Amino acid sequence: MSRHISSLLAIAAVCVTLTPAPASAQAPKKAPVDCTQVKCVALTFDDGPGKYAGTLLDTLKKYDAKATFFLEGQYVKSRPQFVKRMAAEGHELGNHSYKHPDFRTLETWEIRAEIKKTQDEIKKAAGVEPKLLRPPYGMADLTVSEIATEFGMPIILWTGGSEDWKTKNVEAIKKKTLEVAKPGSIILMHDWVKQTVDAMPSIVKSLQKKGYHLVTVSDIVKNENLQPGDVFPVPEGWEK
Ligand code: NI
Repeated sequence: MSRHISSLLAIAAVCVTLTPAPASAQAPKKAPVDCTQVKCVALTFDDGPGKYAGTLLDTLKKYDAKATFFLEGQYVKSRPQFVKRMAAEGHELGNHSYKHPDFRTLETWEIRAEIKKTQDEIKKAAGVEPKLLRPPYGMADLTVSEIATEFGMPIILWTGGSEDWKTKNVEAIKKKTLEVAKPGSIILMHDWVKQTVDAMPSIVKSLQKKGYHLVTVSDIVKNENLQPGDVFPVPEGWEK
């Protein structure tokens, strides 16, 4: 009997010894998602980092989902720790101006300053420079396109909106987001809307259940061969 127990203990000891380190401690780097082979959708969060960004990042991490954040320089400056975390956790960072003015009302030097100051703040916070521009309100014209070209950035708009800023309702945000989610979608959301952050666990689970991979904008546009100054998706009537 005692011998039986001791051999069980020996087996238990071996099991303990052989138990690998927790996956999170040293997870191997996964192969990148190929959006030509699987269904992809890019969730994008504008105007942040908002005050709920930490909770949002926790959710994304929990479900192994990536997102793209089009950041305002003024909030990068006041909440740099979120920006650092976004980059460290594999999310993409984009430039959404410093203080969110309508670029059409600005002089060209002011537009350049809005973009440059934001690039500088993001670089300072996270050590990376955004390669994508989303002008406030999605207002892109030829002047903005020319300036984006100087910065080496394509302009990224969206294919569908969650309308979260309008409804501010968890169920409505979820419904709208799932409605506009199609393979290759770029969806507009905001991390300053608390209900969006509250809805995220359910949205991510539903999308993944439908077979979607939540990826960055760069993953989605990989094969579009976008050049600096290009606008994607191309707005109706756009001519360059
Ligand atoms: Ni905005």
